[in-house]
Amino acid sequence: MPVALRTQVGIVGAGPAGLLLSHLLALAGIESVVVENRSRAYCEARQRAGLLEAGTVELLRSAGVGKRMDAEGIEHDGIYLQFLGERHHLDFRALTGGRWVTIYAQTEIVKDLIAARLAAGGAIEFSCSDVAVSDVTSDRPVLSYADSSGETHVVSCDVIAGCDGFHGICRPLIPGLSVSERTYPYAWLGILADAAPSTDELIYSRHADGFALYSMRSHDVSRLYLQVAPDESVEAWPDERIWAELQKRFAVEGWSVSEGPITDKSVTAMRSFVAAPMQHGRLFLAGDAAHIVPPTGAKGLNLAAFDVTVLTDALAAWYSGGDATLLAGYSQACLRRVWRAQHFSWWMTSMLHRFSDASDFDLRRQIAELDMVVSSPSAAKLLADNYVGLPLT
Ligand code: APR
Ligand code: PHB
Repeated sequence: MPVALRTQVGIVGAGPAGLLLSHLLALAGIESVVVENRSRAYCEARQRAGLLEAGTVELLRSAGVGKRMDAEGIEHDGIYLQFLGERHHLDFRALTGGRWVTIYAQTEIVKDLIAARLAAGGAIEFSCSDVAVSDVTSDRPVLSYADSSGETHVVSCDVIAGCDGFHGICRPLIPGLSVSERTYPYAWLGILADAAPSTDELIYSRHADGFALYSMRSHDVSRLYLQVAPDESVEAWPDERIWAELQKRFAVEGWSVSEGPITDKSVTAMRSFVAAPMQHGRLFLAGDAAHIVPPTGAKGLNLAAFDVTVLTDALAAWYSGGDATLLAGYSQACLRRVWRAQHFSWWMTSMLHRFSDASDFDLRRQIAELDMVVSSPSAAKLLADNYVGLPLT
């Protein structure tokens, strides 16, 4: 016999979207159950981007999960843009009236959220199989799964949140979904290295041989990316080749990338993707389940945080007085911000990468665009405002 359970919100996926949603709902007095098909250890080890908009930092802080982020995160006041062998600084604090970004790895946020939920007695089921969602157009949608010991659970819910990422099971349940998509003819090879970063802020470098990004995880750990072919295998990149390529793409007189043991290497595809609507009946999608951005704008996690904030406010209004207006407007409210982030991420991507079919005109236009950003205060402000994040309302 399956175990029958009841909750208010059934959440599929324990990535940042599902975990933060469950935490924010609990703060609003709403119960949830999170069901995840990977193990806790896997979720806590997965390497993803690590850049938080100021608004996301403030959200995590006000939700009471900002303690370690405040202690270990690194505030950055700007970025460097590099092209034609010259490095230019953009001062975000000055350009945006005091806004900033914080470097704090997504993996750490996931650990903090899992710890906060479990300490509060929250229900997170890891290592589940046969996760399924049904009856989303009824007023009792069902979330079912087999737990790690193989026992089947059937959870009767008021609503279901599909926070199950790009390859999840929830998005296909929305009939008549429209998809807008762009894939890019390159990928990023990302490494983690035990090397103290030789830069104080991130460097986005456009180089004739391809884009490179210098980021970090702490004062002792560097995170670096190289533009590579879309089907590139990690095996083609022994450590010496990676360091040589990084030194070349970041080269400026009298400076070098500091090297150290590489502890992680992976290739990530680049994609822009938006599915609409983000809701159907009592099913609501949030985060990567509904949209993907190329990482050049560092928006993925920040968009997920925005979605679940909107969803929490909408559910709180609905539970407190039966007003479903915000729930009905969920998709529209999220998609406006999603499309702004899509545009920004596409802009950063197209301005900084090398396109194999680029003509001389394309290359010169790309340089002119970068030149505009570093020499026109209004163009620099446009980039800065978008990078630090639009207000969370
Ligand atoms: N059943 C249960 N869980 C599932 C299922 C399923 N059928 N399919 C996927 N999942 C889980 C994944 O294992 C993962 O833990 O859903 C979770 C989705 O998490 P993410 O992929 O991290 O997506 P999201 O939470 O939306 O995070 C936003 O920000 O930096 C970006 O892309 C990056 O993942 C990041 C995103
Ligand atoms: C990262 O630190 O992983 C990172 C930072 C900025 C980006 C992408 C990734 O644009």
